[in-house]
Amino acid sequence: MSATNEARSVTPPEVTARKGKQPFVCLTAYTTPMARLVDAHCDIVLVGDSVGMVLHGLPSTLGVTLDMMILHGKAVRRGLDRALMVVDMPFGSYEESPEQAFRNAARLMAETGCAAVKIEGGETMTDTIRFLTGRGIPVMAHIGLTPQAVNAFGGYKVQGRGDDADRISRDASAVAGAGAFSVVLEKVPDSLARTLTAGLAIPTIGIGASPACDGQILVIDDMLGMFTAFRPKFVKRYAELGREAETAIATYAEEVRQRRFPAAEHVFGDAAKDVKQGDKE
Ligand code: KIV
Repeated sequence: MSATNEARSVTPPEVTARKGKQPFVCLTAYTTPMARLVDAHCDIVLVGDSVGMVLHGLPSTLGVTLDMMILHGKAVRRGLDRALMVVDMPFGSYEESPEQAFRNAARLMAETGCAAVKIEGGETMTDTIRFLTGRGIPVMAHIGLTPQAVNAFGGYKVQGRGDDADRISRDASAVAGAGAFSVVLEKVPDSLARTLTAGLAIPTIGIGASPACDGQILVIDDMLGMFTAFRPKFVKRYAELGREAETAIATYAEEVRQRRFPAAEHVFGDAAKDVKQGDKE
């Protein structure tokens, strides 16, 4: 095999081996510029099917297609050097059979350059996870609140409270036993997430789960405060970029209406002039 000069990315086995050590930092990204921003800070970057709701205005993740995931996956790949890139398998692309899952996961990997895929579901997905991992496709599992099953759950509700904890525990053991290299725990009680994290041999990655998880993940637009429509309890906003953008847009609109933009420094003279470094004429 010939050598390449590609930067060295985090690998799925390295993620598994880091179980119980320093927590993993994971975020979603959907575009090249955002991938460039998160790469230096994250161990794992997920091209989540949340892209449908975040960037495409869909009401849920159910309308997201494989082609959308490939398009955003390719964009994110161009912005990453270091972080492990995982791409979500969208609703309808893997549930029918392990063979269907393999065909679509192989396409995701070949066309985006991702190193792993994520699929939602626990016990019901074990044959598929085994089939994929046995054929060279690392799988991140996703249990608890699995947004693609929002209709079956009757909403985005906390999963695994009371007697329901057994179901989530069975899901966790099943995906670990089937060969998943890590598992996302979404919207499960803190105590259950702690128990699962302590008992599983693979890392848990929490979202609305517990600080005890082996890693944490958030949707990038949520933590940057890009929109104000709703604010899940489990999201901490580290910035209010949506509010800042709104102020900037309103200022621009006002300046255009008052002919204060463009100003003298934004327009061109008749003769070419020296331009400041970093500016382009
Ligand atoms: O699609 C997504 O962004 C996700 C994360 C929230 C885990 O699945």
